[in-house]
Amino acid sequence: GITRHYKFNIKLQNVTRLCQTKSIVTVNGKFPGPRIIAREGDRLLIKVVNQVQNNITLHWHGIRQLRSGWADGPAYITQCPIQTGQSYVYNYTITGQRGTLFWHAHISWLRATLYGPIVILPKKRVPYPFPQPFKEVLIIFGEWWKADTETVINQAMQTGSAPNVSDAYTINGLPGPLYNCSAKDTFKLKVKAGKTYLLRLINAALNDELFFSIANHTLTVVEADAVYVKPFKTQTVLITPGQTTNVLLKTKSKTPNATFLIAARPYVSGPAAFDNSTTTGLLEYEKTSVTSNNNKKLPLLKPVLPKLNDTSFSFKYNQKIRSLANSKFPANVPQTVDKNFFFTVGLGTTSCLTNQNCPGPNNTRLVASINNVSFVQPNIALLQAHFLKRSKGVFTTDFPTNPPFKFNYTGTPPNNTLVSNGTKVAALPFNATVELVLQDTSIIGAESHPLHLHGFNFFVVGMGFGNFDPKQDPTKYNLFDPAERNTIGVPSGGWVALRFRADNPGVWFMHCHLEVHTSWGLKMAWVVLDGKKANQKLLPPPSDLPKC
Ligand code: C2O
Repeated sequence: GITRHYKFNIKLQNVTRLCQTKSIVTVNGKFPGPRIIAREGDRLLIKVVNQVQNNITLHWHGIRQLRSGWADGPAYITQCPIQTGQSYVYNYTITGQRGTLFWHAHISWLRATLYGPIVILPKKRVPYPFPQPFKEVLIIFGEWWKADTETVINQAMQTGSAPNVSDAYTINGLPGPLYNCSAKDTFKLKVKAGKTYLLRLINAALNDELFFSIANHTLTVVEADAVYVKPFKTQTVLITPGQTTNVLLKTKSKTPNATFLIAARPYVSGPAAFDNSTTTGLLEYEKTSVTSNNNKKLPLLKPVLPKLNDTSFSFKYNQKIRSLANSKFPANVPQTVDKNFFFTVGLGTTSCLTNQNCPGPNNTRLVASINNVSFVQPNIALLQAHFLKRSKGVFTTDFPTNPPFKFNYTGTPPNNTLVSNGTKVAALPFNATVELVLQDTSIIGAESHPLHLHGFNFFVVGMGFGNFDPKQDPTKYNLFDPAERNTIGVPSGGWVALRFRADNPGVWFMHCHLEVHTSWGLKMAWVVLDGKKANQKLLPPPSDLPKC
């Protein structure tokens, strides 16, 4: 591979959407941010210069960062933030991955405006395992607030209430004509008839899973989270925050002058407040001079999307995603397990400190937790504390392998389920095979949580509704061609079983990619210890690593 250099200046930029102008944090003044393009095996050197008042970190979502955790980016997990006037070079090599990923800010809610695509092409002269597309198109979904998003989340955290929902969803930063004064801010995809396009879909929205569809066109899914999948056809793609999906779009052979609507709107499975609106763009066929009867302008066709709460669609869609699992692209699913974990994920309540606002029932605050631990952000980066062997007072390695009490997770919860706070991590020996069952709880209400794991891809070996049954459910696991990805929606009122190999030493964040749930504490970290061999150890930190 080669080395590619990027310079990312973090700076303010005035942007107008929905008839209002606000100053947003951007990379190089661009919104959405610039595209990173590389090939598998390349090394990236991205110099980030912070020219704004906010503390900044950037994360390269889905990049495995083998032994290079210092470049991963989550604030106070792998690094201290880049402060105003400072810079940091993210330095990593893309190993064994190709496909679509994205980068985003990983501190507070700054990823609302700080995000952009990462395109990893296969090595030179290596073709895709599907028909070579005529053209490739990036489609990145986002959410737009009229208000300043840092104010939105800071106020919510202070008052203990839910933050205001966004004012629009966007496609490549554009809301589209269904929103107030946004007709000119519409994503347009101009196509030729009878060609195959590769759409690289990215969900960079903060708080909503999305359904995506194009009127009168079938899409063929070929890749999820930068892993090729067995191709399958669908009218609608489901994409959670943190997920990416590549689809092939075959344009019709005879449809001159036609225009079709492209649309995305949320899949909402729980009690969450959400913005019930739709972002749209246009698929426009090239005008041809051929005179024929159907050369008249056809009416604009609208796609049919699943219902807002269509959990059954979501479940079936996720089950369709399968690894190629062939000799060229084997699925290295761990067939045996060294370490078992059972994590409950969901919203809950915590007792209030005297100086806090307590809008929850019985003088409590709304929080989110894993195994009833709501994660407290430390003051220095966990990775530094781990590397320097100075974890005392920063974190403890007693993250519970099971929840503190068992109950009917998807039925009526018991009364006393108060959540505790802590900076706890789970330690894993190098190369251990891990099985992790994530169980949704309905303490506040069942809801799908898109869980994202840094540093690894995991295999989605099983999923179901209701309570996970440790005797029966494992007998139905798919250990042959399960989906391999970095983000998975835990089914609303159900569970998902994941397996991965802890072959990447370092500290790795795992959290709900709904940003509001991360803010409320639905997050934890894994510490993967060094192996014995020299090439199984975390590399030392770079000299410009920011200090706290
Ligand atoms: Cu896309 Cu921890 O992030």
